[in-house]
Amino acid sequence: MDVISFARGVPAPECLPVDELAECARAVLERDGKTILSYGTGAGYSPLRELIADWFRVHPAQVIVTNGGLQGFVLLAERLGRGQTVFVESPTYDRPLKILLSKGSTVVPVEMDDQGLSAQAVEEQLRMHQNPAFLYTIPTFQNPSGRTAPVERRQAILNVADSHGLQIVEDDPYGLVRFEGASVPAYFDLSDKRTIYTSSFSKTIAPGLRVGWTILPPELAHDLIESANSTYISPVLLGQATIYEFISRGYFEPNLVKVKKLLGERRDAMLAALEKHFGGTGAHWSKPEGGYFTWLELPPGVIAKGVLERAQGVTAVLGTDFGGLPGSMRLAYSYVSPDEIDEGVARLAAAVA
Ligand SMILES: Cc1ncc(COP(=O)(O)O)c(C=O)c1O
Repeated sequence: MDVISFARGVPAPECLPVDELAECARAVLERDGKTILSYGTGAGYSPLRELIADWFRVHPAQVIVTNGGLQGFVLLAERLGRGQTVFVESPTYDRPLKILLSKGSTVVPVEMDDQGLSAQAVEEQLRMHQNPAFLYTIPTFQNPSGRTAPVERRQAILNVADSHGLQIVEDDPYGLVRFEGASVPAYFDLSDKRTIYTSSFSKTIAPGLRVGWTILPPELAHDLIESANSTYISPVLLGQATIYEFISRGYFEPNLVKVKKLLGERRDAMLAALEKHFGGTGAHWSKPEGGYFTWLELPPGVIAKGVLERAQGVTAVLGTDFGGLPGSMRLAYSYVSPDEIDEGVARLAAAVA
């Protein structure tokens, strides 16, 4: 029996624009090889840094282009989070959680509901924990839950954060991967660019190139660039130049359309399969309008660990790995075909029964 993986939060191979990237990589090497094959600055490949600054209407000095968005988070966690209290969503993406713990941060989970974080939940934790260094949030198509916070919630959280001097770190790699519905403004825009924003080309182009960015106040950006410099000298310039070329040649938009179509079909297949195999069982799941994941809360009393142990030929990640409840699991629909999705969900449902 072939294993069906709902565990892998990676794009299906069909999403990857291999030919276009090969063409772009060759072109940049031929044109600019002597620069991009040498060491550069910790800030990243300047043309890409400037392009991102232009997209977000900030000064390039506020942008650091890193080896994936996660690298930016490591630098930020070291600079702001070491030994400090940090608020995270509950559940949250497991890697930042581990990074924060490795820096000796005290991680405070803030409860979410189907609409993500609420101002009340943040305020409640602020009453108990003084001066947290920042709140780490993934407000759109969250990893792992697939949830999106509506604009009213974001605005209310921003008000609470402002009145308590709480810094918001917004991680937004999935925002552009929207299949339907209107996009929700980022904290970054709602706050007039005062919050810290991080994103990535991993979900819109290819994760293997390892290109992400963080936008932050100039003095903090300067510190992170120094720290990048003293840790890895400069990021992989070939990957960044290839992405710059990909965008310059006009490949970004059409590629995003293709990615959204492919993943949207998979999201549809996942929601249909959940309805078919879990409808009426008391299970509950998120219904994302984009991104990679849905969050399955099993019928009351059922433990996800037991289900995944019993399930034949299907994998998913336990909700507890993200700080979630024992009855929950993350289902990634990004990697598997619609047919496999139906079969995989059927196998999960059989393991519950
Ligand atoms: C919320 C979130 N942030 C960051 C990342 C890491 O992205 P990158 O590949 O840019 O390091 C991921 C990857 O899955 C993610 O889900």
